[in-house]
Amino acid sequence: MLRHGLLKTHQLRANPVRDSSPEQPVLSKHFINPGLFLPHGPMQPTSVYTRDRCVTGIHGLDEILRGGIPYGSTVLAAGTCGSGKTTLGMEFLVRGALAGEACAHFTATEPSVKLLENIRQYAFFDMNMVDSGLINVFDMDVLYSWLGLEKASFDLDDVHALIKSIVDIVNTIGVTRLVIDSVTTLCYKIKSEQLIRDFLFTLGKKLATLGCTTILISEITSATENAHWSSFGVEEAIADGIIVMGDSERMGHLLRFLQVVKMRGTSHSRAKHAIELTPLGVMLIPMLKWGASSDNSSRWGA
Ligand SMILES: Nc1ncnc2c1ncn2[C@@H]1O[C@H](COP(=O)(O)OP(=O)(O)OP(=O)(O)O)[C@@H](O)[C@H]1O
Ligand SMILES: [Mg+2]
Repeated sequence: MLRHGLLKTHQLRANPVRDSSPEQPVLSKHFINPGLFLPHGPMQPTSVYTRDRCVTGIHGLDEILRGGIPYGSTVLAAGTCGSGKTTLGMEFLVRGALAGEACAHFTATEPSVKLLENIRQYAFFDMNMVDSGLINVFDMDVLYSWLGLEKASFDLDDVHALIKSIVDIVNTIGVTRLVIDSVTTLCYKIKSEQLIRDFLFTLGKKLATLGCTTILISEITSATENAHWSSFGVEEAIADGIIVMGDSERMGHLLRFLQVVKMRGTSHSRAKHAIELTPLGVMLIPMLKWGASSDNSSRWGA
């Protein structure tokens, strides 16, 4: 069924965030009192540069990230099974759609019909966003068959064809928030580490140029201190940010947690936060500093 799939790609929507230039830089510079010249010493800064942020809208995450994900970043959301990766990715798109942004979700781990049937049970999700084309859901296997890529492994040409088709969809629709769920499933078809590296690097670079902030969902088997944050060991080096999601056992209960391991372009908390999947969306609650202070900045970690 293609109702929520590739049939949507022909639609062109206005993009409220990005201007018409595809080469729009994703960095911006805000001067704070540029006229301030310092008589006290040469080491005092005269200006502060701040990356524009993609405000995720996920409760607690923007506080952890000191305002949101730096605009145009490619973020790996690496998590164990059932840790809430898909829900987090979908809410990221819903919050963007509520702000009028065009969003896309490429699903490789479950059919789009099943995905939507599951996610629509959450009160934060509104099927009208799909029907109106604000959230565009694509089945990866439909994309593969369109591209003639119904094969067990991809070579360099196949990888380039895949990048081109994703970038074309993003460009045509004017997508500013993208989720690929999961990049692990996709990368299983790319047999060499070097090719996976090239795929992620080139895709991330092109999406950044288009001003698209991307969450690549990655499946990992363990989220403990010594775990790899990716399945192939290369995704974590290429990604601009890594968000780890996993379980922590407490008295026979599996509590979900989320931790931002890295996020280029911003300071952020690296503390573990408990996650609740509520009808209104994902809620993050500081685990370590909860109750330590009523001050918001310390609540969300150093
Ligand atoms: N309506 C709901 N409200 C709260 N929690 C839910 C609801 N539906 C499912 N869940 C919980 O969410 C979990 C699935 O979340 P999600 O699909 O986001 O995880 P995931 O990390 O993507 O999983 P997978 O590894 O299977 O891809 C379920 O295992 C269940 O515990
Ligand atoms: Mg999932």
